[in-house]
Amino acid sequence: MFLHGTSSVNNSGHLEIGGLDTTKLAATYGTPLYVYDIELVRQKARAFMDPFQQNGIQAQVAYAGKAFCTVGILQVIAQEGLSLDVVSGGELYTALKAGFPVERIHFHGNNKSYQEIEMALQAGIGHFIVDNYLEIHMLKEATRRLGTKTKVLLRLAPGVEAHTHEYISTGKEDSKFGFDLESGAATEAMELLHGDQYIELTGVHYHIGSQIFDMEAFYVATEKVWRMLADWREQAGFHLQVLNVGGGFGIRYTEEDTPLSIQEYVEHVIQAVKNNAENFGFNLPEIWIEPGRAIVGDAGTTLYTVGAQKQIPNVRNYLSVDGGMSDNIRLPLYQAKYEAAIANSMNEEADTLVSIAGKHCESGDMLAWDVQLPNPQVGDILAIPCTGAYCYSMASNYNHITKSAVVFVENSEAKVVVQRQTYEDLVRLDNEYLPNLHVEKGNRESRVS
Ligand code: LLP
Repeated sequence: MFLHGTSSVNNSGHLEIGGLDTTKLAATYGTPLYVYDIELVRQKARAFMDPFQQNGIQAQVAYAGKAFCTVGILQVIAQEGLSLDVVSGGELYTALKAGFPVERIHFHGNNKSYQEIEMALQAGIGHFIVDNYLEIHMLKEATRRLGTKTKVLLRLAPGVEAHTHEYISTGKEDSKFGFDLESGAATEAMELLHGDQYIELTGVHYHIGSQIFDMEAFYVATEKVWRMLADWREQAGFHLQVLNVGGGFGIRYTEEDTPLSIQEYVEHVIQAVKNNAENFGFNLPEIWIEPGRAIVGDAGTTLYTVGAQKQIPNVRNYLSVDGGMSDNIRLPLYQAKYEAAIANSMNEEADTLVSIAGKHCESGDMLAWDVQLPNPQVGDILAIPCTGAYCYSMASNYNHITKSAVVFVENSEAKVVVQRQTYEDLVRLDNEYLPNLHVEKGNRESRVS
């Protein structure tokens, strides 16, 4: 298993993260357990900020909260001086609870409700990333009703497909997100907002997909967008202040993945924006990016306890653990691949081929196909690294399995930042339903309840 960040193997042959033995973390806090290497989160956050600062470029690095949104992580993100992209009233609420600087919160989403828009206006967030005509209409109405001004970016669908899994590519024309360029929708939206008394259109946004390694599609999209920006300048006198190029920077889940370094990603972004600004005769706008996965992905490791095994001769060895698709749905949903290790025997030879199954009632409930482990035994602690993004945030209570706890480790200290759910939590919002039912049984009336 590849060791990310502060992960290492200690003298007992155990996996350590943040200076702490993961088998002890498992014993103390139970499993499944999401463990976050906060030093690594900080390193990644700084790696995104540094190239902009070193080049003296006005920029915002907005963490995409959808990757992992809890009060604790948003506080780390705020401490590092990043901005935040939220996509729902719930994420906004969490950010406000975390005390996130409100002017650095930007609100995304393709179907914001009027209540969400009001909530964000009242909180005084930085920007709305406006996605569609209904939102423009509601924003105009709400700003006037509340007497509040706001800033917006227009979300564009540049009609460019990134080479990534279909469900996570978003920039192509046939997408539910944003205004497309070709049909004239983007220009029409700009005209509806440009010069508005309450709404300042400061720029545009596009995001062409996630887990991207190859910047080609990004270059193509960027040039298309600048052509349009040049038209807007000619035809409407539109002045570009902010160019938000989204997130999607890929990470290394397994050795098949070949991401660029964060510095390289950011340098490509800077170069592409600079080139286009120069070619089209613009001053350099403020550059915004929105990494989610690349900030928290590698930093999360999920610990499980090994349970039953089923060996089917000449077919497969299934190794079941005490979690699964309710804490990490990425394999069933995206055919995601992960590495794995036995945290309590890191130095032993990985000589046994297994597939790691969850404990949910579904054959697709798998965490990893065909990984080599050192002869796993009941009670071993299995570690799956790179589960920091889109695992806790996509967790469910399927089969009424309680959501796992989240622990942050940093400088040899551990802190529970999300408590494990209890069985009581599972029924806390349930109401009883015991009406007085009268069922006719022949002539006799029997009462059921
Ligand atoms: N900005 C926008 C507008 C987005 O839609 C996204 C991701 C991001 C930024 C952050 O992308 P990142 O840097 O994290 O790749 N659940 C899927 C990923 C869905 C991504 C949705 N949008 C997964 O587990 O891979």
